[in-house]
Amino acid sequence: MIKICFVCLGNICRSPMAEFIMKDMVHQAGRDREFYIVSKATHSDNIWNGTGAPIYRNAADCLRAHGIPFDDDKEAALLKRGDYDNFDYFIGMDNNNLYFMNKILGGDSVHKIHALMEYTPEGGEVADPWYTRNFEQAYNDITRGCAALLKTM
Ligand code: 4NP
Repeated sequence: MIKICFVCLGNICRSPMAEFIMKDMVHQAGRDREFYIVSKATHSDNIWNGTGAPIYRNAADCLRAHGIPFDDDKEAALLKRGDYDNFDYFIGMDNNNLYFMNKILGGDSVHKIHALMEYTPEGGEVADPWYTRNFEQAYNDITRGCAALLKTM
């Protein structure tokens, strides 16, 4: 079982998009049983009294427009230090995410922390659509990143 935790700042836009895009790719490949895939946040901005916000409306609309199934009950959840031993890959969306992932997870002794776009020839970051408002761009980048990541597995 390959265990993947996608990570972004709020866990309401990019990392849940990555979670459900990757789940769909794995499903299309007939490999569901080989993977355990979740997504988490570096910051608790969208978590109140332990309850996380759902996927942000524009991100959900974007997934729906592309025919990607997703869990309506998905709630934002915070990345915790204890997660380090429970996953094989922690995949961050941008360099700010990677910085906080290292802090939260207490370093990266066996090199589990990666940037999604490092798997693509271009590299770079998935720009935050919370600020850019460009959910299509995020969808395209995440799709390219996930396809490249899956190819390595
Ligand atoms: P995400 O986007 O990290 O892709 O989920 C954000 C969502 C919410 C906030 C920042 C980024 N926020 O500041 O609430």
